Amino acid sequence: IAPDADWRDEVLDLARKRDAVILAHNYQLPEIQDIAHHTGDSLALSRIAAASDASTIVFCGVHFMAETAKILAPHKTVLIPDERAGCSLADSITAAQLREWKAEHPGAVVVSYVNTTAEVKAETDICCTSSNAVDVVASIPADREVLFCPDQFLGAHVKRETGRENLHIWAGECHVHAGINGPELAERAAADPEADLFIHPECGCATSALYLAGEGTVPAEKVKILSTGDMVAQARATKAKSVLVATEVGMLHQLRKAAPGIDFRAVNDRASCRYMKMITPAALLRCLREGKDEVHVDLETATRAQGAVQRMIEIGQ
Ligand code: 13P
Ligand code: SF4
Repeated sequence: IAPDADWRDEVLDLARKRDAVILAHNYQLPEIQDIAHHTGDSLALSRIAAASDASTIVFCGVHFMAETAKILAPHKTVLIPDERAGCSLADSITAAQLREWKAEHPGAVVVSYVNTTAEVKAETDICCTSSNAVDVVASIPADREVLFCPDQFLGAHVKRETGRENLHIWAGECHVHAGINGPELAERAAADPEADLFIHPECGCATSALYLAGEGTVPAEKVKILSTGDMVAQARATKAKSVLVATEVGMLHQLRKAAPGIDFRAVNDRASCRYMKMITPAALLRCLREGKDEVHVDLETATRAQGAVQRMIEIGQ
């Protein structure tokens, strides 16, 4: 299906008839981002899902995001255009593994990244996203041990920012972000010394970027560790003429829209998430025509996960 004017009209018309709001993550295909009622990062979209008046939420993103919307709004119908859109990071810890880890650290506070299953959230005290992870951990009394899962690179970023020694980090990773490596970043930065570096904290290269800044290869003020939503805000604020972007390549679309005069380039242009890209124009149309795929979270799990997700959307407002 070509994302032409007919496609647009039908999608928007069906959304109206279903009383649906269409949400799209910043990594979605450009045509999906452009037709969505709201585009944003994980935290912004969760907040919109919780506050929306629409009776149906069509989540163009990956499964854990749609599940999070369902946990926040259990009485609403939540649809995802393709339920196979998973996440390698969410797969890197199971609820059973988290229970075992908790048993090794009795009394510790569990902070889980939103990139986790509903079952893992149900074992969690506070969820966070990349844009409020530091605030979430800083909100926990300093003498309490913290278990942070599942992303090791975001965990390392939080540990650096909070200076917290009693933070234990799970060794999970996202295959897309882990593949954006330090040597590649160093090479790109050396070729464009005037560029800002926008780096998602899930990236394997976040530590290398700070190292480059530390040794003076890149001016420290040019290195920005940002969530995808904060990248858009920073794109509007920066005076730089070019920006090297270390995250999933779908991000470039919102950045170019936000600041058309800036040359945004991917540090690794193969960094594409195949799960995010399962949400095609055809899948979105089928979703709206057939009311599929509907996302369900069993009531007991949703109830247990709700407090942790609610705290996530409240912290860092
Ligand atoms: P944010 O949009 O919260 O920065 O998350 C990035 C991500 O990897 C989502 O899968
Ligand atoms: Fe998951 Fe990585 Fe894809 Fe984000 S980019 S949805 S963290 S696999």
